[in-house]
Amino acid sequence: VQVSHENHQWLLGENPPILRAHSVAKHRVLRSYLEKYVSVLTSDPRRDQLRLTLVDGFAGGGLYLHHRTGERTVGSPLIMLEAMKTAEFVARERRKKPFHLDVQYIFIERDNAARDFLTHTIQISEFGPLLGSKIEVLGGEFLSHLGYLVDHVRKRNGRSIFSLDQFGYKDAPLPAIRRVLTSLPKAEILLTFAIDHLIDYLGANEATRKRIERLELELTGDQLRAAKEQPHWRRLIQTDLHGQVFRGSGAKYFTPFFIRSEDSHRDLWLIHLSGHHRARDVMVQLHWQLSTCFSHYGGAGLQMLGYDQSLDASVTQQTQLFAFDDEAKALTLSELQAQFPARLAKYRDGIPFQQLFTEFTNETPATSEMMKAALKEAIADGELSLKDSAGSTAKRPRNLKDSDIILPSKQRRLFLPPNRET
Ligand SMILES: C[S@@+](CC[C@H](N)C(=O)[O-])C[C@H]1O[C@@H](n2cnc3c(N)ncnc32)[C@H](O)[C@@H]1O
Repeated sequence: VQVSHENHQWLLGENPPILRAHSVAKHRVLRSYLEKYVSVLTSDPRRDQLRLTLVDGFAGGGLYLHHRTGERTVGSPLIMLEAMKTAEFVARERRKKPFHLDVQYIFIERDNAARDFLTHTIQISEFGPLLGSKIEVLGGEFLSHLGYLVDHVRKRNGRSIFSLDQFGYKDAPLPAIRRVLTSLPKAEILLTFAIDHLIDYLGANEATRKRIERLELELTGDQLRAAKEQPHWRRLIQTDLHGQVFRGSGAKYFTPFFIRSEDSHRDLWLIHLSGHHRARDVMVQLHWQLSTCFSHYGGAGLQMLGYDQSLDASVTQQTQLFAFDDEAKALTLSELQAQFPARLAKYRDGIPFQQLFTEFTNETPATSEMMKAALKEAIADGELSLKDSAGSTAKRPRNLKDSDIILPSKQRRLFLPPNRET
């Protein structure tokens, strides 16, 4: 299949656009996350219904041709509908009693032709009868609907997932994201951000500077020039901007992972922003499961995005990306095992695992299970010790519970700063 242009175009009566490899990866994450989300929230078989709202702020035309096979492949709005159908089926299979998944869908698409294409694609699909009742297709800009979205979702109970799959980086700005996440504590956002587009424009002229300011991101010409003198300046800037996006988003938890595009320097962030640590854990588990397509620039243990220019050359020269594969997993476990004793030294009275997880999850690619495995090793080595919630010291390391308390070990006399452990 010939790939002609990056921007998608949908025209009724014509072939839909090509779906490229990085969008295939993005779609896998969206579909799997939605299915897992419902599965986690319906894990209690006594629950007989779940209500949620799914918003696709940049919906597109709903259909593509796969870049390799040329087969017709659905876009994000249809992925949402299909994922909910699967999730409802799975939840019903688990129960003897009836279960109802009550989902309202709001799809926004600015381009008239693409919106017509989308409506038509839904109409002729099995989900056609939901149009006008459970499915609302809106025109215009995502931002112009923000007030309506927040009100509407709140009235339904606030539980929602927003897919904000913009083309570049400016159509879903931080103030809008913050408004969603602060008005709706149970909302989650999957945000696409074309970081390299932004980096390419940075510092170019006054107009770009103003545009960046409107996004509430900050990177001066001087900072950019200084960064560009470093061999891995793109990585340096990405690390800095990640922090800014996270802090400005109003989210408590985030995943900073990206998809490497087939073109060089076209990294695409797919950031998950949420207010609950469990949501973050589910997303990270998924990245390990879909191990081949995602990456991040940092290390394996804690402070994964802490880019330290003073680290020795062999580390800074490293161009290998973190790949969520077996090697990355082994490295993650050994780094965490080495780093936790020093990082937990200040908790003289101990810290329950659940609290430890919420405290450290944002800075590591590890899942909660991996954190527990690393802590167990450190306990076995006498670097940390363990009590149960009633205060009894565990004699032997065992599988950790969320309520277990981890303490610095009394035998451990010397605490060196993190990363400098021997
Ligand atoms: C990357 S495509 C979306 C693809 C779709 N999410 C999918 O995965 O199948 C971005 C879409 O957003 C639309 N768009 C661009 N700016 C927009 C805005 N401010 N508000 C709403 N839609 C917009 C474009 O017309 C385009 O169809």
